[in-house]
Order: sequence, then C-alpha cells, then structure tokens
Amino acid sequence: MKFFIDTANLAQIKEANELGVLDGVTTNPSLMAKEGIKGKENVLNHYLAICDLVDGDVSAEVLATDYEGMVKEGLELAKLHKQIVVKIPCTKDGIKAIKFFTDKGIRTNCTLVFSVGQALLVAKAGATYVSPFVGRLDDISTDGIDLIARIVDMYREYDFDTQVLAASIRHTMHINQCVEVGADVATCPLSAIEGLLKHPLTDSGLATFIADAKKMD
Ligand code: E4P
Repeated sequence: MKFFIDTANLAQIKEANELGVLDGVTTNPSLMAKEGIKGKENVLNHYLAICDLVDGDVSAEVLATDYEGMVKEGLELAKLHKQIVVKIPCTKDGIKAIKFFTDKGIRTNCTLVFSVGQALLVAKAGATYVSPFVGRLDDISTDGIDLIARIVDMYREYDFDTQVLAASIRHTMHINQCVEVGADVATCPLSAIEGLLKHPLTDSGLATFIADAKKMD
C-alpha cells in the first residue's frame, strides 16, 4: 500500500519524506487555505515547492466547478510539473473533465467520493485515483472503511485500473483497516503515520536493551 501525506504544510511533508516511506502528497483547497496560501501565483509556487520536496505524485485540486473551467485549470496544473495529478470533484462536469484528461494521458484523482456508484463512474472515466472519504462518512455514522472495501472488490471484479486512494483518514486505526481491505493508497495526516510506530513492547524492549548494553561496556 502506498502512503501519501494529506497536507499542504511543507515542514510536515519534509518530515514525512525524511522517514523514507512517503509515496506522494494530497492537498485540497481547505489544506492550502490553512497554510495561508493565497492568489494563483502563490498557489502554483506552493505546488512546485511540494514537488521539490518529494519524488511521488502530488494531487492539486481544481477550484472551478464547471467543465470548461476544470479543463482550463487542470491543463495549467498538469503543465506545471510532471508529478502533478489533477484533482477533480465527483460531479457530472468533473466526470466529463476526467474523461477529457484520460484521453490526453493526464493523470487525475477524483475527490469527494462517497458511494460505489460514484466510484464506478470515476473508473469508467479512466481516473488514475478515486478518493473515497473515510472519516467524513464515519462522522455521519456510516462505515467509511466498508466503502473502501466495497470499491476495492468492485474494481477487482471488473478489472478497473483506477487505484483506490483512501482519503479523510483521521487516525492510525484507519490505516490498519485500509491495509486489511486492500486499499491501494492511504493519504494520511503525519500523526496517523507516526502512530503506526507506537507499541509499548517496542518501548519496554528497547529500554531493556539499552540497560543491558551498558553492562557490555
Ligand atoms: C484528500 O484527498 C482529502 O481532501 C482529505 O483527505 C479530506 O480530509 P478531511 O475529511 O479530514 O478534511
């Protein structure tokens, strides 16, 4: 399973990248706004700064909601850097735009996906990634991981190439559950990735080894 970090914060991206296990980055307008990035030029420069930090795919979301606007913005984003994946919302215009980019060989990530039916259209349009939102479904008492499992099964059944990118991951348990149901990618906050390292037996075992190592001096 690939690991993407879900942030526009350069320090966190750098920290995750230094772990050596990072495969890419996802951003969205809310994450960009949180970092205070304003204005087209600053936005594009920020994506370039992210691409400089990591080797993998960097999802950059279009702000337009109409087909023509998405195509115009997506072409600009794709031209910016070879690592950019154009992120497009799962709407009627969005699906049309994904098909346009697929036909041009431009990679896409379809965001705001909350059902198997949406994921079917996303795959048929040829998206590189589909992003079902786990945490936001959990927030409304619907099992987000179950949606990941059902989309993974459907894509395997019909042999679709679109990769299932579990988004809206809120904590470490979500990552473990994504592994169990066979997600291709999980995009996670740094804290959730670091949580994978935590185990009391690792801590106590290391304390013993350190104490015993002193006896070997
Ligand atoms: C990433 O692709 C999504 O935009 C992001 O994971 C959404 O996460 P949230 O539901 O925590 O805002």
